[in-house]
Amino acid sequence: MAQTKTVTASVAPPAVETVDNGVARSGRVDGKPVSGEGDIILQTRGLSKVYRPMFAKVGKVALDDLTIDVKRGEIFGLVGPNGSGKTTTLKLLLGLIKPTKGSIDIFGYGPNSVPVKKRIGFLPDGPYFYDHLNSYEVLDFYGKLFGYSKAERNARIPNLLDMVGLNPADRHRMIRTYSKGMVQRVGLAQALINDPEFLFLDEPTTGLDPIGARAMKDAILSVRDQGKTVLLCSHLLADVQAICDRVAILSEGRLVKFGTVRELVGPSQDFEIYASGLGDVALDKARESGLNFQLQSEMEPADGLQSDAAKNSSVRFRAASSEQLDSVLNFIRDAGGRTMDVKGHSETLEDVFVRSVKSDGR
Ligand SMILES: Nc1ncnc2c1ncn2[C@@H]1O[C@H](COP(=O)(O)OP(=O)(O)O)[C@@H](O)[C@H]1O
Ligand SMILES: [Mg+2]
Repeated sequence: MAQTKTVTASVAPPAVETVDNGVARSGRVDGKPVSGEGDIILQTRGLSKVYRPMFAKVGKVALDDLTIDVKRGEIFGLVGPNGSGKTTTLKLLLGLIKPTKGSIDIFGYGPNSVPVKKRIGFLPDGPYFYDHLNSYEVLDFYGKLFGYSKAERNARIPNLLDMVGLNPADRHRMIRTYSKGMVQRVGLAQALINDPEFLFLDEPTTGLDPIGARAMKDAILSVRDQGKTVLLCSHLLADVQAICDRVAILSEGRLVKFGTVRELVGPSQDFEIYASGLGDVALDKARESGLNFQLQSEMEPADGLQSDAAKNSSVRFRAASSEQLDSVLNFIRDAGGRTMDVKGHSETLEDVFVRSVKSDGR
């Protein structure tokens, strides 16, 4: 499925939130149902969960004092390694387990209220379906549970399967013959059956091959482009970085970072600049000015008549700051060369995660 970049007004990149000890502040007035654009539709305050098995003296702190908010129309990533408390958080938000402490406000209600259930969809980690059914029959079953008429189901199901990118040729095969990626896509279609405003996805790309993961990410982006909100849990930081607007990073049940992906990874600090059309004189000058560069191709002139600029057909400069980038670009322009490409390298979410956990003293 092609990835569309259409962004509606309600999903414009959220304004930069103040990140204060990892906790974002919001203007949400507690207890009031929210409406309008840029709304906060989910808010947790001090959410904590201690699992205490029967007869156990000490419990396991799975989530400790989580305060986050999710805005309408965004893809929000809840990330962290295995065991960091992501699924626990999701179960709390869905009302499947009870918090030990703290509060959850979703569309202005508690997680167990009936109006909330109607407006949300959920893809669990490793969804399981009756595998002698085909995808059409599975969705038909869930459609019936939500009380859709046969005509409504027949209208909705092909659209949903299109949206998640399940080929028509595969729709009438038994699920037991599906790849993991195809099962995940049926899971996503099932989570969307009631046309929810807010989707909760637990590890949607885990265990998929690169093509399956890509198809799933495209499907999630197209869900967002329809104006829906997505809360996605994943330990795959690269996948999260690619599609999420904002992320909360968990480590051992604690929030270690919260913000937009851009805020967390920061701007590029290291650049590669590819240029052509620079002759030997220009390169001597670049050397004298202390610019860092390398010739990419030194072609042997076939007839001995080739110009310097054609010989030095591609030069790669390196810049270690945005100031250096400016100097290199000015140099290329002044020397009559042409900038062919500029690549910026910034930190990855994984770098941010490792750094935050270290600075947290763990
Ligand atoms: N029902 C349970 N009873 C006891 N401990 C649990 C239970 N469920 C999860 N845990 C523990 O809580 C921690 C967080 O688990 P989980 O939320 O599943 O993490 P994640 O989804 O990030 O991998 C882990 O240490 C896990 O072993
Ligand atoms: Mg999990």
